[in-house]
Amino acid sequence: MRVEEISVWISDARTAFDGAIDLDALKIVRLAHTGDKSPISLASRALGGMAPEDKASFGKLIGDAKAAIASALAGATAALEAERDRKVLLEEVVDVTLPVQRAHRGGLHPISIIRNEVTDFFIEQGFSVEEGPELESGWLNFDALNMPADHPARTMQDTFFIEPVESGMVLRTHTSPVQIRTMLTQTPPIYIICPGRTFRADELDATHSPVFHQVEGLVVDKGITMAHLKGTLDNFARHMFGPGVTTRLRPSFFPFTEPSAEVDIFFNNRWIEWGGCGMVNPMVLATCGIDTDLYSGFAFGMGLERTLMVRHGITDMHDIVEGDLRFTRQFGVGL
Ligand code: DAH
Repeated sequence: MRVEEISVWISDARTAFDGAIDLDALKIVRLAHTGDKSPISLASRALGGMAPEDKASFGKLIGDAKAAIASALAGATAALEAERDRKVLLEEVVDVTLPVQRAHRGGLHPISIIRNEVTDFFIEQGFSVEEGPELESGWLNFDALNMPADHPARTMQDTFFIEPVESGMVLRTHTSPVQIRTMLTQTPPIYIICPGRTFRADELDATHSPVFHQVEGLVVDKGITMAHLKGTLDNFARHMFGPGVTTRLRPSFFPFTEPSAEVDIFFNNRWIEWGGCGMVNPMVLATCGIDTDLYSGFAFGMGLERTLMVRHGITDMHDIVEGDLRFTRQFGVGL
């Protein structure tokens, strides 16, 4: 071991540490210059076999060299760590001024919201909710409701007939066939509503849609009168349109009710037609096998789109059917 060699080890180590481009590279050269097999470690171990007179002087040289190498390593490590931190801060910078990506929660369509309001209101009063198929037999959709074959509502213009036409199947034009289905399968007292999808061969325009929704109500019990109908409609109207709302029955005609009426509401300072209603025609009760000496009933039916449009001042049906979120979001998520 020569004295000059020791200073070469120090300068070699410095050069290697300073040349390392990152901390990984430094780790590799650190082993070569400070590890067990590095010249300085080997020399340190060789001290033990030296003559005592050499030991002291070489020992000091090697100790100083170790300190110099360690300090060179510490300097290089600090510089590379600072460099790494600077890069991380640059690369992983978060721009807190960027707009937030908001994930929108799903929500109910306003028609679903209003249907739920209707069903909740009637369920609270002990009504049950019935459903029927959208593809309905012509007999249930028309005949059983006292709408004979030549009834104008049965024409091609109004009704979607299903092929083959001999099947007698139609897309239900109203929810009233559910009245028949219920009376055929249940015995009075009957207190039901039926919200559902209905179909008519109309063009989509500001006030019509070929697919729309109705809610049907039917009560059959002993001693049911038109006063019960009027009271039910009053409560229903107040629930849907607000406490100050009144209803008016205007004489009208439906084959399945006798007498029949249109129900209007007084809303926003004017009378607006809301739906149809009446006392269930005894011919319909009899068709369903209900004893007309014992029982009477009332029924009503209204459009959910119409209810929504009147209540919210919506003037274009397109807004309801198109599903534009800018429209539906105004009603809240309704979940
Ligand atoms: N089904 C009728 C329609 O679609 C609405 C209706 C009127 C239903 C009178 C009824 C009723 O239950 O009693 O136009």
